[in-house]
Amino acid sequence: MDDKMNAVSAKEPNPVSLLESPCHIGALALPNRFVRSATHESLAEDGAVSERLITALSRLARGRVGTIVTGAAAVAQDGRISPTQIGLWTTAFCPAWPAWSARSTRPGTPA
Ligand SMILES: Cc1cc2nc3c(=O)[nH]c(=O)nc-3n(C[C@H](O)[C@H](O)[C@H](O)COP(=O)(O)O)c2cc1C
Repeated sequence: MDDKMNAVSAKEPNPVSLLESPCHIGALALPNRFVRSATHESLAEDGAVSERLITALSRLARGRVGTIVTGAAAVAQDGRISPTQIGLWTTAFCPAWPAWSARSTRPGTPA
């Protein structure tokens, strides 16, 4: 194989270290550059945050995902895509959200 193809320039950043390096998005200080993009988890229970949903996002945080974007939340009950979509059409759901956020993050990960 061509030696030039294998040569790694000392000036080029190591792509793994770059992914693991902290960064900012506006005022948010992020511990690394790994992002779980918005993904409908289909784990809510009639709109409410469930233990299964908390567990799923906690596992991502434990795996050191630096930024977790939740799936889309339905702001109207008749506009939701399924009964398992997270809902925000009633304030009754609100108390569960801070606990969900706290348990789905880890020190250094913004909530
Ligand atoms: C199963 C699945 C669920 C998704 N759910 C959402 C969602 O709830 N909200 C949203 O904004 N995007 C959602 N997306 C879009 C993703 O966040 C992302 O934008 C899309 O997969 C393109 O990213 P990629 O080019 O890295 O594949 C979803 C994608 C997939 C595959």
